[in-house]
Amino acid sequence: MDKHFLIGAATAAHQVEGNNTCSDFWVMENLKHSDYAEPSGTAVDHYNRYPEDIKRLSDAGLNAYRFSIEWARIEPEEGRFDEREIAHYRDMLRCCREYGVTPIVTLHHFSSPAWLIRKGGWKKEYVVGAFARYVRYVAMQLGQELGCVCTINEANMGYQLQKVMADMRNSSRKEGDVQVGVELDMKKILLSMIEQGIAFRCSPLRVNAYLRPRSEEQEKIVMRAHQAAKQALKFVNPEIKVGLTLSLFDYQPTEDGREIAAQLWHEDFGMYLPYIRDDDFLGVQNYSRKIVDKNGARQPAPDAPLTQMGYEDYPASIGNVLRKVAKEFPGELIVTENGLATADDKLRCEFIREAFAGVQAARADGVPVSGYLYWSLLDNFEWQAGYSKTFGLIAVDRNTQTRTPKESLRVLGELARTEKDSYKGE
Ligand code: BGC
Repeated sequence: MDKHFLIGAATAAHQVEGNNTCSDFWVMENLKHSDYAEPSGTAVDHYNRYPEDIKRLSDAGLNAYRFSIEWARIEPEEGRFDEREIAHYRDMLRCCREYGVTPIVTLHHFSSPAWLIRKGGWKKEYVVGAFARYVRYVAMQLGQELGCVCTINEANMGYQLQKVMADMRNSSRKEGDVQVGVELDMKKILLSMIEQGIAFRCSPLRVNAYLRPRSEEQEKIVMRAHQAAKQALKFVNPEIKVGLTLSLFDYQPTEDGREIAAQLWHEDFGMYLPYIRDDDFLGVQNYSRKIVDKNGARQPAPDAPLTQMGYEDYPASIGNVLRKVAKEFPGELIVTENGLATADDKLRCEFIREAFAGVQAARADGVPVSGYLYWSLLDNFEWQAGYSKTFGLIAVDRNTQTRTPKESLRVLGELARTEKDSYKGE
């Protein structure tokens, strides 16, 4: 890992590359009764335009880029690995280095090859060996060029989704409050489930894509997949820094909410800690806070500023979460995602300044944070919510694929330059 603090932005392959045709998401998005707002299609064509996107990131002053390698491209059919796709990601890694940008690579960011679903997806032990085999291949091919690797993005998402679904069944609420954009309309989900079963040639109840509810026991499969991947990477190159990322809320208890807040934190974090405590780093991903009383997490107050995602615009939460994590996780922390979905870039600029100040304050108090990666570099495909949510530092006109950098890109770049200046003379 570079000695200097990393400041950059993140993306995920399926959300930006386009034409991820061998993936499970592609199948689900293109059904007649798909529960996706729209298909990902050509996305923002980052597959072809990554050199100009990485150049823009670097020109703005950022020094790190987190992107993901798409398993469905590398292994489009079970056991058949595509060398051209490996060459593509090797080029991306080299492009980062050419522009003085540190690459942080994610090996699984929600999407999987469609064939994995027929094998039981992320609820069957089979995925552990299959994922390790893919990671071994990537490590053998790219191992000497990988510096820092996140095995699985938001490894705690299955249990968070399970809780959201349970909440929905027990209340009249139509919207869930998991942070990632997912469809929660039961009628839509059921119709699409039937078609998914047909498309994947398995029972509709067994379409276990990654973004599906999982029990505590099933989450252990995800943990074993992480550990097997870590072993495969270290075997090829022990120098690679390996960790995973977790989706973490800043739970703020009222006087009578302490016990429940502690329980929620345990379910998001403590439950996973035994499996990750020896990792080289932890990727911390946070987007908002939740106020917790004796009945659980409250909806945001009526006058609270909301993001396009429906949760509160609350930039202070990242600093709070870093401090909380550092009390229990013994190693290095990297903010692998933090961002704001808004059409008003002025709000994004404010968000970035405040969130970053929270990170710096935590560092000043000794929290071992080594990087801050804003989500996202580009406006992109927000999963089931489609393209309507804009998190990006760079806007994209999807008709022409023209990029327009936003003021927020300049603001984050300025923070990076100021940080760099503080090293002068070292
Ligand atoms: C995910 C991203 C997603 C972002 C914003 C995170 O949960 O890793 O893929 O786009 O949140 O919802």
